[in-house]
This record gives sequence, structure tokens and C-alpha cells, in this order.
Amino acid sequence: MAIFEVEEVLAQMTLEEKAQMCSGCDFWHTQDIERLGIPSVMMCDGPNGLRKQLGEGDHLGIHESIETVCYPTASCLASSFDEELAGELGAVLGDECQVEQVGMLLGPGINMKRSPVCGRNFEYFSEDPYLTGKMAAAYIRGLQDKGIAACVKHFAANNQETRRTSGSSQMSQRTLHEIYLPAFEMAVKEGHVRGVMCAYNAVNGTFCAENKTLLTDILRSEWGYEGLVVTDWGAVKNRVKGLEAGLDLEMPGSRQGKQEKIVEAVKSGGLPEKVLDQAVRNVLKFVRDAIREQGKDAAFDREAAHEKSVRFARESAVLLKNAGALPLDPRKKIAFIGEFAENVRYQGAGSSHIHVKHPMSALECVNYRTMTEWEREAPEAGICYARGYCAEEEETDEELLAEAVRAARETETAVIFAGLPESREIEGSDRETMAIPENQNRLIREIAKVQPHTVVVLHGGAPMELPWLPEVDSVLCMYLGGDRAGEAACDLLFGRANPCGKLAETWPAKLEDNPSWLNFPGEDGVVKYQEEIFVGYRYYDKKKMDVCFPFGHGLSYTDFSYSDIVLDKDRISCDDLLTVRCRVSNTGKMYGKEAVQLYVSDMESSVRRPVRELKGFCKIGLQPGETKEVVFSLDKRAFAYYEEKVTGWYVESGRFRIEIGASSRDIRLSEEVQVESAEELPVSYTRLSAVAELMKTAIGREIFGELTARLAARKPEGANQETDAAMGSGSAKARQTMMMEMPLEAFVTYGVIGEKELDGLMERLNL
Ligand code: BGC
Repeated sequence: MAIFEVEEVLAQMTLEEKAQMCSGCDFWHTQDIERLGIPSVMMCDGPNGLRKQLGEGDHLGIHESIETVCYPTASCLASSFDEELAGELGAVLGDECQVEQVGMLLGPGINMKRSPVCGRNFEYFSEDPYLTGKMAAAYIRGLQDKGIAACVKHFAANNQETRRTSGSSQMSQRTLHEIYLPAFEMAVKEGHVRGVMCAYNAVNGTFCAENKTLLTDILRSEWGYEGLVVTDWGAVKNRVKGLEAGLDLEMPGSRQGKQEKIVEAVKSGGLPEKVLDQAVRNVLKFVRDAIREQGKDAAFDREAAHEKSVRFARESAVLLKNAGALPLDPRKKIAFIGEFAENVRYQGAGSSHIHVKHPMSALECVNYRTMTEWEREAPEAGICYARGYCAEEEETDEELLAEAVRAARETETAVIFAGLPESREIEGSDRETMAIPENQNRLIREIAKVQPHTVVVLHGGAPMELPWLPEVDSVLCMYLGGDRAGEAACDLLFGRANPCGKLAETWPAKLEDNPSWLNFPGEDGVVKYQEEIFVGYRYYDKKKMDVCFPFGHGLSYTDFSYSDIVLDKDRISCDDLLTVRCRVSNTGKMYGKEAVQLYVSDMESSVRRPVRELKGFCKIGLQPGETKEVVFSLDKRAFAYYEEKVTGWYVESGRFRIEIGASSRDIRLSEEVQVESAEELPVSYTRLSAVAELMKTAIGREIFGELTARLAARKPEGANQETDAAMGSGSAKARQTMMMEMPLEAFVTYGVIGEKELDGLMERLNL
């Protein structure tokens, strides 16, 4: 197809054509303009498969789409802690998009998992912005290297489904910048993403589709984004305001006279034409690039893609608990129990729903395997199956329960496949509870009573409540592992593969422990993010709260030891890079992979900061007895927090602890570094500023020195009774603390300096 010149074409467009270009021509395509040689480009949902609709389009997964491969959803993939894997998923999706002539894949979804009960959690990566950003950037690079544009969504702070199209997420600037924006920033700066989808909701009262601060000031001016900004499907409220804010393309095609409104606004002088031109330019660039890249090495092998999907699921599943029943011995008699063993739970519902011809269940896989490989090893062994419960029901079916208990009693190990039914993980509605249906809880308990070797395999895209956890031997979480999740589960259960996933989110003991609990899902469409930056482990660690499973947790069939942490410097300026090295060894008997995690902890911060924050991770594979060195590089951002006083990232000088761990609560190594900041925060001093405030600036510290010298000079005579009385007769340390808390004017009150001198000091301080 002929490639057009953006500026040339733009110069020839009528006002009406420009308005048309800023909206799709139907549910999935950009507008074509034949006379100018502008073709139409198709966009499709992702993110965990290709949802290409050929017939009627919809954004809720209602109408059919082409039959294809469903890969693990983001919450599963994130648990791999493996950027390479995320890149591979992007690449295989890119191949399919090329073959299917799709120019943009609507994903990945990179909103933060603020609450465990957000209905779309399965589509999001993590409660941690760094992990989300890294995994997303790798996915984007993989996809875009194949010539297909990625489109990160939903920008920004779209963290729940309740009132998703009309609600407002209310939060401080620090919270927005530290928690809800960094993944988008990394997608732009590290992934070079070509599409950003604005969210339905408002942030601090302004709809994202009309939010200039987000769409222009932050996205384009601050981060340097040059791609396309598209609405979430139907997110436009006021189209003209949207254009002014930096929203380029409205999807799906505009039906309610919005194009006419654009034309009128330009004609009446309400909208400068150059603003419209910029949006058109962005759409045209996207179309031109999509056409230019079309057909690039197009080849897609569906069988090979299925094989990749199994591997992605295997490398992402998390072994939560293992008291010894795993891996299973295929020579033993085993019962597979639970409807999900037969009908595997592998994806969520809504716009990400992928049409799969034949998802492979664990039961099917194990039977097939038994007849082939295992038959030779264990001719007498067999897997029996009992359904145990009806997935979409809460009530126990007594007959199914009795049959399952019998099966568990008569075998040597019971493997129960349990978790969230599909109706609970659905775009458009949040869950009310973290619990799995009661009939499953009861089944697990009854079976654990008769079978000490009870293993639970969990399916679901978010943390679940596990009231029976102490009663069962082992728990393997498959999350929503794609259409071959059953096969991946069998590989892991029988030890043909070694679990190596780590939790990308904390599993709290109960929903009420979650920091958003009192403010989720908000009232009358207003959601106050009062927990601020203390989301996920940032909160549980600060509160020293017991959790069911901490962020970063995941077991293996082998063991790893950590040693030899080395920092290349013990003192750095905040603009230096710090290199951190350590060694990790496989001390067990089986090949395994370990996700090594690096956390940074500000030891002496004057502002509230989390106990630790993830700032690096690396997945390595080790043969038994093998050791590898892991190297991390930390830049300024690893030590910084968002300081509203300077509307930017700020590093406070002081000591920081570098921690290396197997999880956020299993820190194996640590070392300290002194970080020196070049900048000083502006402080505006008053007579009521505390003496301690003096320590924040160089001039303040100088004046503090002068004042304490004056105080010390008076001491020998024991002179000032008033000062002594005010400071009490406590220990020197207590007296010092008390002095630091006093207002500056207290130096006058207690006669250390006079009024005039204080005025002079105030002038010097605020110069
Ligand atoms: C969802 C988006 C999706 C779009 C198109 C919306 O309802 O929020 O994630 O890409 O529909 O299906």
C-alpha cells in the first residue's frame, strides 16, 4: 500500500475531513479517506490474546471473535517476574496481528491493583508500579518490534469497575505520581509505546478524556510521548474539550454529532484549528506507521503459540505452600477433584475475552499423558475424577461432595482444583468479597479431614481468602493461566517443571486488612484514595501486619542460597549510578528458576515513606550446584520520592538500605549506602517554624550553629533559668529533642537573642 506524507495530506484536508479523522469509522477501524489515499487501520483487544471481531463489534466480549490462542492474563504473567517472557508474549501476539492485519493491539492494561476485589484485576499486573512498568515495557517492545502498536490502558487511576465510566479517583499529587503514573511513564520512556488509551473515569474531578494535565502536560511535555491518544471505547464526554486536552482519536466511531461539534467549534473560533490539526497529525502518523509496518515478516504458527502459552503459564504459576505432597508421585493413586479440573478456569470476562476452540483441562491432560508417557512408568496407577462442586453455585451439592470425599479417601493424594468462578471476574463489576464460593471451601475442608495429602490448585486473577490453608498440604496458584493452564498445572504438579512464579501482589489474610477497604468503591462516584502511597506491601509492611502471603512470595522444588552482596560505592551523589551485585546458588537437587528481588529502604527520611520499595528484579535459571552473579543498577529514581513542594522527584540526603530477597518478607542480604542530594528543598520559614526545620537548609544549619553556640556560651554560668525551666531537667537527649521542637521565636522568649536579631535571622533564612 502506498505510504502517504502526513503533512502533505493534512494540508489538503477539509475541516470536515479533519473532524472525521479524529473518530473511528466503525467499532474497530480508523477513518479512511479515499481521495487522499488514507486507508483504515484496525485496532483489536488484547491483551492476553487477539480478540478480532469480524462481525458485529462490542467492547464487552459479547459477540464472536476469531478463534485463537488465549495466553495467561496479566496478573498471571506478572508473577513470572520475567521481562523476557513478557517480551515473548508481545512478540507472538505481534506475529498474529501481522497475519490478521491488525495495526494496534489494545493492551497491556497497566492499572494498579489497589484492591483485591477490582473486577478487572486479572487484566492488570501488580500492586507495584515498578514491576508493572518493567513487565509492560518488555511486552510493548516485543509487540512493537513486530510492527504492531501497543496501547497501554487505562490512563489513569482506573482501579475499579464500580462507576467506572463516571467516577472520580481523588488523590494527592504524590500518590498519583508515586503509585498510579510510573507504569505509564515506563511504558512511554522504556517501552516507547505508540498508543495510550485514556480511562473512562475522572482524576481529581476532571475526566481523563478531558484532562490536559494528564494527556498533555504529563504525558507529552514531561515524558516526551509522541504517539496516539485514543479514548477508551465511549469515554468521550465533551469532544471539543477533549481535543483541547490532547485527546486525538475517539473510539468507536462517533455517532452523536460530535464531529459536527468540532467543525462548529473551529468555525466559531472556540477551537483553534491548529489544535485539531495536531490531533489529526497524531492519527495520521499512527495510520502511516501501521501501513508502513504491515506484513512485516508475517507468519503465525498457532500450534507453536499454544506451546508458548503452556510455557508462559508454567513459568508464572506460584507455589504458595508445600508441606511435602508436591511434586506428585505418578506411581501413586491420585484423585483429581473439582469442576475446574474438567472445565479449566483460564481467562476473565469482558473485552479481553478470547475465543478458544479447545482449552485443555488438567484432567484431559493427565489422562492423555497417563496413556502415553506415564503408562510405562506406572501401569497400575490411575487418576480418578470427582466433580465435587458446581462452579457457578454457592450451595453444596451433597451427592457431589460425598462422591469426592470417597474418592479422596480411596486414593493416596487428593488434588482439588478450586478458585473463582468466571462470573466473579468480569469487566464492569467489582467483587464484594475475596472468598471463593462456600461449596468449594466446604469441599476442601471435608477432603482435608480424610486425606492428609491434599493439594489445592487455585485458579483466579486476584488474591483469594483461604480459610482452610492450615488444613491442606500444598497450594499451587495457576492464576488465569490461558487455554493450556491445565497442561501447565500437570507439568508442575508432577514435577516435570519446577514452579518459579512469585506473587506480584500481597494476599492479605482478609479483605478488611486491605488499605483501600474503607474507601472502596467510594460513595456517589467519588473514591478517596486515603491510603495514599501505602498500597499493597507498602501498607502491610508499614503496619507490620501479618498477611496470608507477602508480595514476592513463591516456593520452588529446589532451594536457593544468597550470598556476597557488594555495592560498588558506599557513598554516592544522587545523580550517580549504584551497582549492586550478589550471588545466588541452587543448593537443591532440581533445576530451578529464582526471581531475585531488590528493595530500597530510606532509613532516615523526614517524610513518610514505605518500609521498602521494589527497585529491581531478575529471573535466573540454575542447575543443581550452580551459582550465578546477579547485577543491578540503581539510578536516582530508586531513591527518590515525589515531592509536591518541587512538583517533582526528590532525593533526600541520608542513609539507604539496599535489600536483596526471595520475597518482600524474606530478605536474605542487605547493605547500606549514603546518598547525597545536590538540591535543597525550598523551606519558607516563619517565627513559628520548629528549630528542627533549620536542619533542612544550608543557611538554616548555619544559623542553628550560631544559636547553639550562643546557648553553649551562656551555660557555664548556668545562667538562663528560664531556658532550663522550659527544657526541663530530663536527659541531654530529651532536652535536645525538646529544643528542636520549639518555635524559633522561643529563642527570644528565653532571652537567647533579641527581637531585632530574630528579624535579621528570619530575613537571612528566607532570602
Ligand atoms: C475496555 C477497554 C477495551 C475497549 C474495547 C472498554 O470497555 O475498558 O479495555 O479495550 O472496551 O473493547
